[in-house]
Amino acid sequence: MSHTTSSVELAGHTLRSPVLLAAGTCGVLDEMRDVLDLRSIGGLVTKSITRYKRDGNPYPRITWTRSGMINAIGLANPGLDGWRTDVAPRIRDVETRIIGSIAGDSIEDYVEVTRAMDECDGLDLVELNVSCPNVHSGLEFGADPGALRELVTSVSNAAPGLTLIVKLSPIVVGTPHTIVDISKVAIESGAKAITLTNTVPAMGIDVRTREPILANTTGGLSGPAIHPIVVRLVHLVYTQFAKEAGVDIVAAGGVTRWEDAAEFILAGATVIQIGAGSFADPKAGRKVDRGLTKWMLDQGASSFSELRGAIKRPS
Ligand SMILES: Cc1cc2nc3c(=O)[nH]c(=O)nc-3n(C[C@H](O)[C@H](O)[C@H](O)COP(=O)(O)O)c2cc1C
Repeated sequence: MSHTTSSVELAGHTLRSPVLLAAGTCGVLDEMRDVLDLRSIGGLVTKSITRYKRDGNPYPRITWTRSGMINAIGLANPGLDGWRTDVAPRIRDVETRIIGSIAGDSIEDYVEVTRAMDECDGLDLVELNVSCPNVHSGLEFGADPGALRELVTSVSNAAPGLTLIVKLSPIVVGTPHTIVDISKVAIESGAKAITLTNTVPAMGIDVRTREPILANTTGGLSGPAIHPIVVRLVHLVYTQFAKEAGVDIVAAGGVTRWEDAAEFILAGATVIQIGAGSFADPKAGRKVDRGLTKWMLDQGASSFSELRGAIKRPS
């Protein structure tokens, strides 16, 4: 694609805007097209696709909080067979960059889906959702550096034509590792960029019935509540690793206004994703894109890369 004022480079790919829609929040592919002009955003991440079809968790699986939402969708998706027949053939005609999201319980599951995506016309970037428990250890792949190394290496060897982005959980559960360590492992194993982050583990209780609100009891919190947490994680990974290593960060967490996206860029993100924000306002992607471009110009910059990580220390 041609360069415009708002275009950005993500791991060697040109996107027309730094604003993307986050995995699982905009349908399996282009379901948002009737409410949002997909040409106004830089791209979208598909629902995470698993090797086998999943119906997901029982209902209710979404609830609202005062500052975001908790979901326990449980990766409901058509599986590889459904994706191959109903989704893959349409990808090249969607009017924005498509990033395929992949999830699984085992390395073989991830590799199988990755191979299919590698063969798909119009798809050259994939995001590995590693916030899934590994059937062997029970730990999330993203919380276990050894398992993550093996996973990313296997996926990267299976699909040399795809650019891999690894999406991490904000909480590295049950391990002494930091998000900086885990990000390094992902990059050393073949990933070209890191997405920070998935949802934060959370729970809501109905005090009248005394029952958990979600049938699954717990879920993942997203939306404004998690934004400052993710700003800090982006800042940490950028300053302690990504800046020097030349690694792009994709920031996801509570973007509902352009100011949130601008904060992420100043913290060190190359592009940002909107998830829960699209539930509140399906046109959020377009509005954030416009506000962000105006902000860039108001700051006297001619590209977003000039503002990346450009926070000022108080003198
Ligand atoms: C309803 C819902 C479904 C989601 N499904 C996925 C998914 O399939 N794969 C994934 O990697 N992340 C999934 N996420 C996480 C989002 O992509 C995003 O990382 C997270 O919600 C934080 O961004 P936000 O605060 O802007 O929503 C989902 C989030 C929500 C709210």
